[in-house]
Amino acid sequence: MSTFVLAIDQGTTSTRAMLFRPDLSVAGLAQAEIAQTYPASGWVEHDPEGIWASVLTTVRAVLARADVPAASVAALGITNQRETTVIWDRATGAPIHPALVWQDRRTADLCANLKAAGHEPLVTARTGLILDPYFSATKIAWLLDFVPGARGRAERGELAFGTIDSWLLWRLTGGLHATDATNAARTALFDIHRGVWDDDLLAVFGIPRALLPEVRDCAGDFGTTRADLFGAAIPIRGVAGDQQAATIGQACFTPGMVKATYGTGCFALLNTGAEAHASRSRLLTTIAYQFGGQRTYALEGSIFVAGAAVQWLRDGLGLLRDAAESGPLAARADPDAGIYLVPAFVGLGAPHWEPDVRGALFGLTRDTGPEAFARAALESVCYQTHDLLAAMRADWPRGDAETVLRADGGMAASDWTMQRLADLLGLPVDRPVVRETTALGVAYLAGWTVGVYPEPEAFARAWRLERRFGPTLSSADRAKRLDGWHRAVRALRGMRA
Ligand code: G3P
Repeated sequence: MSTFVLAIDQGTTSTRAMLFRPDLSVAGLAQAEIAQTYPASGWVEHDPEGIWASVLTTVRAVLARADVPAASVAALGITNQRETTVIWDRATGAPIHPALVWQDRRTADLCANLKAAGHEPLVTARTGLILDPYFSATKIAWLLDFVPGARGRAERGELAFGTIDSWLLWRLTGGLHATDATNAARTALFDIHRGVWDDDLLAVFGIPRALLPEVRDCAGDFGTTRADLFGAAIPIRGVAGDQQAATIGQACFTPGMVKATYGTGCFALLNTGAEAHASRSRLLTTIAYQFGGQRTYALEGSIFVAGAAVQWLRDGLGLLRDAAESGPLAARADPDAGIYLVPAFVGLGAPHWEPDVRGALFGLTRDTGPEAFARAALESVCYQTHDLLAAMRADWPRGDAETVLRADGGMAASDWTMQRLADLLGLPVDRPVVRETTALGVAYLAGWTVGVYPEPEAFARAWRLERRFGPTLSSADRAKRLDGWHRAVRALRGMRA
């Protein structure tokens, strides 16, 4: 009987394939790194063929290692780095250019021009987003203008656009051009209130409708994999952007619940229920999930550098051999050195949205060493999370909101970072038993669709706490440190151009 559920988690720095049992325990995992290309300052590209190859390799590896034939997989779910933009030829399936990654800032000028022309209110009203290079729309426009002949081919219906989920669906199924509502919500072309591609926005960004995929529920029918890929056709029954999948994996189904996932960046999502709550604090309004045509919304705070700061310590500065060394190194630093890293390596995300600023380290002295760098890098992630939750509190003044933060992702493995997070937030931080919440979330969607997993309420009851980190700093100490951080951010923003 087919009872296993497979999740493909195609993230910014790696692809993971995970196999789950009917009791939601993990039966296997395979992982492959994704090459990052930085052709110019602030530009980030991925090779779509490399991404596809990593999916084939990891899925085959996890099935082989767990000794599970594809015929025993009841359903497959796909979750992905969001916004990253691929355009390919419908006839050949070949990409016309490397993928423009969500972190890519090359369309900052285009966004500034559209903003100056007064288009941002329309974008925000329809999509819940702001005009920033982060989202897919200006990346699509750039590709159509940059690649010779692309605009004409797009207008003739010869090209297809997709976020990574669509790209993988196309390849896995042999030509299904679809996406789900959560990924569509990140393009800046999708009306999140009506649940349709928006003609006015397509006109603003100059994007032909013929490029776009069909938008479906997160839990539903996305075709089947070609039988020749894995030895048998596997039904694809769940798709969600990775942060939305993590929200589901953390069982944040009740309005007021909030999670933060620490991957390359950090993304905090607050469930606001059936209400698409407009932010006054420069947070995003987005679709948390869509089941049976019903949309549940979230307020999202997105910061671009979290795990990427640890990667910088390791690969850029050579201060670590392994990311796991960052917490112990930070723990040896002078806690009162007053050093602040503002890791605006690709600009600042929420709530500042400054695509053009770049990072800075404040408070250096002659004896600043590797320990202080590590501490400042890890604390920068905590301070930024603090600012996101403060913005959520301002936007969503409900009594029960944010009494606790559910944390997951690679950095959540660091006890030191989680304790510091609780201290600087002044809130408890809960870490679940299953930290692979992104893969778990989309496996749940696929397994729920085919009846292997129970209804959301029962899934939420099965969520298990591994450890709660309680805040230990005095409020005066916390306020002093937050003040130092905010002065550093203000100074950096003042240096812009
Ligand atoms: O919006 C970008 C986000 O989906 C990327 O997530 O986990 O690859 O950093 P991650």
